[in-house]
Amino acid sequence: MGSASRAVSCLCCPCRCLACGLLSCLCSILISLLVTLGVLALVLYLIFRPHMIAATVDSASLATFTLSPTSSLAYNLTVAVTVRNPNKRVGLYYDNVEALAFYKAQRFGYDPIDAFYQGTQDSTQLKPEFHGQQLLQGDVTAAQFRQDQTDGNFAINVGLNAKLRVKVWAFKVRGPKARITCSLLVPAPGATNGATFQPTDCRVWF
Ligand SMILES: *[C@@H]1O[C@H](CO)[C@@H](O)[C@H](O)[C@H]1NC(C)=O
Repeated sequence: MGSASRAVSCLCCPCRCLACGLLSCLCSILISLLVTLGVLALVLYLIFRPHMIAATVDSASLATFTLSPTSSLAYNLTVAVTVRNPNKRVGLYYDNVEALAFYKAQRFGYDPIDAFYQGTQDSTQLKPEFHGQQLLQGDVTAAQFRQDQTDGNFAINVGLNAKLRVKVWAFKVRGPKARITCSLLVPAPGATNGATFQPTDCRVWF
């Protein structure tokens, strides 16, 4: 029996293990395992992937945002983010949720957020708050800061990270890590040019 026909018999007669010998028995078990895993992955993919979560920043405001001559940033930023689960059959648990705030690629704010559950087609509004002081690196930042101040808007990135668990029918399965990133233009505190915040869609990564 050639190896090609043995491979075929592996695929065709997983029940006749004894007749096919130990090697093809292992082989057929392996193949059925791979096929099962593949089908399972495909089903999960089809259920989950076509409906990514969506996130929008509804509002963002800076009560304080000043840079001292020693490059210390004093900040007070409040954000309202709506996260939506568009799936009809899948509920989502959000664990280890954290919100981060960045200015010029430097993280200045961190806010842990309570874990929560989101039923099918539910929306949840999160309100991360960032306040405190943070040292910024580099001289460029100071110049860019003055420029943003003059423009009346600060370009701030807000990120949300969470570990997902997926609830399908009665089953809870470990899901992927979700990373939500939002590029915002936030009006400077007490901006006099009438700049207002425009609701902004975020990007979602798994
Ligand atoms: C930050 O600003 C908000 C809104 O103006 C205010 O309610 C809050 O007390 C401020 N937080 C701190 C720590 O100053």
